[in-house]
Amino acid sequence: MTTPIIKVQQLGKVFSTNDMLTHALQGIELEIQQGEYISISGPSGCGKSTLLSIMGLLDFPTTGKLFFEGKDISQLSMEQTAAIRNKKIGFIFQQFNLIDELSIYDNIALPLRYAKQPTSDKKIKEKVDYCLDVVGMLSKAGRRPTQLSGGQQQCIAIARALVAEPSILLVDEPTGNLDSKNSDQIMATLEALNNQGTTLCVVTHDIRYAEMAKRKVYLLDGRILGQTRFDHQSMY
Ligand SMILES: Nc1ncnc2c1ncn2[C@@H]1O[C@H](COP(=O)(O)OP(=O)(O)OP(=O)(O)O)[C@@H](O)[C@H]1O
Ligand SMILES: [Mg+2]
Repeated sequence: MTTPIIKVQQLGKVFSTNDMLTHALQGIELEIQQGEYISISGPSGCGKSTLLSIMGLLDFPTTGKLFFEGKDISQLSMEQTAAIRNKKIGFIFQQFNLIDELSIYDNIALPLRYAKQPTSDKKIKEKVDYCLDVVGMLSKAGRRPTQLSGGQQQCIAIARALVAEPSILLVDEPTGNLDSKNSDQIMATLEALNNQGTTLCVVTHDIRYAEMAKRKVYLLDGRILGQTRFDHQSMY
């Protein structure tokens, strides 16, 4: 088997606030292989966002290990960790986090303009246009985020997450701010991306959307309650 993009071993996370300890995650074991579409679901507070943040190198585990493309994250410097986060991971959140002062085009170009390795303006245009086309938003390049619907803004956020050609897209409640029609459309867009080869990990408390994934992980009280197998779709 090839090296997984993400491998989590006996991962735990404890938050400490005002002398109160919250065991947000305990004994998590998980591997995500290239090309997979995995969902993480479970009730509010079960640890979904915490797990996604740790896998996205936005937060650190209290115990256990995290490997990204075979590299033990605990052995890397802050700078090396940031480089992986910026280059290899695309994030999509419930809030679209677009910059209202910039055009759609410039919002998507931003990660390339801030990247350590410079990209020519011509190459940036090629990449931005490609990503806008993938999400069906090429005609909106000149608009501002506030001139688009919520569903369209989430499409732009997806395009922005794709532009640096990450190894994996980590998605947290992508439909939380959308009505059901726009939600269905966003989930169809994500599914189409996976069919074209994008590796996806989607956090959702909506069981209907969790079911769209090819592998499903269920969390309860910070532990994995069950998951469908990688090779066939049965519970173990
Ligand atoms: N920064 C933090 N400080 C203290 N406790 C936290 C922090 N972040 C999360 N928690 C706690 O950790 C637990 C898991 O939270 P998390 O946000 O991962 O849940 P979730 O499954 O994403 O919930 P939701 O579906 O509501 O988004 C909760 O009990 C939460 O209160
Ligand atoms: Mg959450």
